[in-house]
Amino acid sequence: MKRRIRSGMSAGLLAVAACVALHSPDSLAARDAQTILKETCQGCHTPEADNALSRISHQRKTPEGWLMSIARMQTMHGLQISDDDRRTLVKYLADTQGLAPSETDGVRYALERRLNTVEHFDDQTSQMCGRCHSGARVALQRRPAQEWERLVNFHLGQWPSLEYQALARDRDWFDIARKDMVPLLAKRYPLDNPAWKKWLSTAPKSDALVGDWSFSGHLPGKGELAGVMSVSADAGDTFKVNVKGQYADGSPFNGDGSAILYSGYEWRGNVTVDGVTMRQVFAAQGNAMQGRMFEAEHDERGLDFVAAKQGSSRLLAVQPGYLKAGAETEVTLVGSGLTGKPNFGKGVEVVAVVEQSPERIRVKLKAAANAQPGLRNVTVGTLKGPTLSVYNSIASVKVVPEFSVARIGEGGGSTPKVQGRFDAEAWGKGADGKPYRIGVFPAQWKVEAFDDRAKEDEDVKFAGTMQADSGVFTPGDAGPNPQRKMSTNNAGNLKVIAAVDDAGKSLTGEGHMIVTVQRWNNPPIP
Ligand code: HEC
Ligand code: HEC
Repeated sequence: MKRRIRSGMSAGLLAVAACVALHSPDSLAARDAQTILKETCQGCHTPEADNALSRISHQRKTPEGWLMSIARMQTMHGLQISDDDRRTLVKYLADTQGLAPSETDGVRYALERRLNTVEHFDDQTSQMCGRCHSGARVALQRRPAQEWERLVNFHLGQWPSLEYQALARDRDWFDIARKDMVPLLAKRYPLDNPAWKKWLSTAPKSDALVGDWSFSGHLPGKGELAGVMSVSADAGDTFKVNVKGQYADGSPFNGDGSAILYSGYEWRGNVTVDGVTMRQVFAAQGNAMQGRMFEAEHDERGLDFVAAKQGSSRLLAVQPGYLKAGAETEVTLVGSGLTGKPNFGKGVEVVAVVEQSPERIRVKLKAAANAQPGLRNVTVGTLKGPTLSVYNSIASVKVVPEFSVARIGEGGGSTPKVQGRFDAEAWGKGADGKPYRIGVFPAQWKVEAFDDRAKEDEDVKFAGTMQADSGVFTPGDAGPNPQRKMSTNNAGNLKVIAAVDDAGKSLTGEGHMIVTVQRWNNPPIP
């Protein structure tokens, strides 16, 4: 089916259509990529030696990056391409001109849609390139100097007003971009990198991922979960996926779906869990998968996910990961190939093994009253990795994320609200006086005005509601509110306060949340 995305279609709609396309392997096109490149791209992109095409053959990027480039060809240059053909091209280009796993290290948060991440690039890069989109969008591409330069030219040609905007009108943006940024980017993110060639020749075949995977996860505002993900092979690097799991509070986490593998390790799944469509963005390498699984319509609702293939040996997690000195509690070890006796370090005794299988060990633990506060390395046989925190008292509470953005929505419009989701992290003081993370604790939550302005504007009353026992904040409706000064919308500037109870003593932590307008432009890489 040939469907043209009209240029009048909003970027947001395109992003949604694009995202669905990337995660659904259901119908793989029969037409091969070379034919499509010839028939749909070559009209504008000049053929070069070795079967190459101008521009296209001189860049490497993630599947999301390729998808965005092609989507831009559609919205800006009038390219006509069917969804099937676009899917085939993204797969082909990501496989042959992708990024090595090491090239995505440290910037996967953008692919995983952790939109509250505070980035740390050098000042020049942040100001020159990281003010309209994430710095990760830049760091997830590889090009020679000439292609970085063309990208700069394209930016100014397409958005000439960028020179008058803040962080550009105070300097010669174009000159700095060409003279400083281009060489820097070509050096930092070069097209030719041995890591990619090495990955291409050593990457395992996708069927290596077929089998059962033991997983562990954590969802802010809900808690920890564990279970098994079963993966079976489908055509052309695609899979059928089934998840069966449970949260620590006993509620189920079951679902079915599909996934596709790009670049030999970029796992993108689409799994419906209890009626809700969720995306999986994982790095799948050997016997390990790691990443984030989030709701398609609400990417702020997502869980950190880590999995180990059954048959391999790995200790993934200890749930919960803390214990109070002098107290007794039950903890679960999650992993694969778990055999032998678990050990929790000095001052922590295994009172009883309640349940033991290769994927899960449930034990009753007791910490001695005089056990030293601090972290213990947990081992099962020769396996190690996770830690257990032993604490006497909580020294401080941190709200995570410390800084976040929630968004108003609905109110007659089609854009959903973006919730705030928080964890209260307890921190202790070790014998050496240094702070150490104890873990996520239940808390009582509230919001307060962040400053006098917010107080005067009654942001607490209008911006939304905090669920006291879960740390989930639901913003107000979109649109003008006649009850507010000058009928402004329900935006707000709030403190997020968590109170954790430690043996009758209440400790509080504080974060900062901006409640703002809808994200109108929401591309796959922010
Ligand atoms: C109607 C003309 C046209 C067609 C058809 C077209 N492109 Fe382009 N393409 C352009 C123009 C113009 C540019 C340079 C401006 C820009 O980057 O948007 C470009 C640039 C690019 C770039 C470089 C972008 C960057 O970030 O530097 C890529 C990659 C690309 N095109 C891929 C494709 C692919 C793949 C196809 C076929 C599916 C395609 N194009 C079809 C006109 C076209
Ligand atoms: C004025 C705002 C602005 C600035 C400043 C800016 N960008 Fe962009 N950039 C954009 C927009 C808008 C897009 C297109 C997004 C889309 O395709 O939906 C884009 C796209 C990109 C892409 C993806 C292109 C592709 O098709 O692969 C890269 C890479 C990129 N920018 C890098 C940079 C770099 C490097 C700098 C600094 C030299 C920079 N940007 C500065 C707004 C900006």
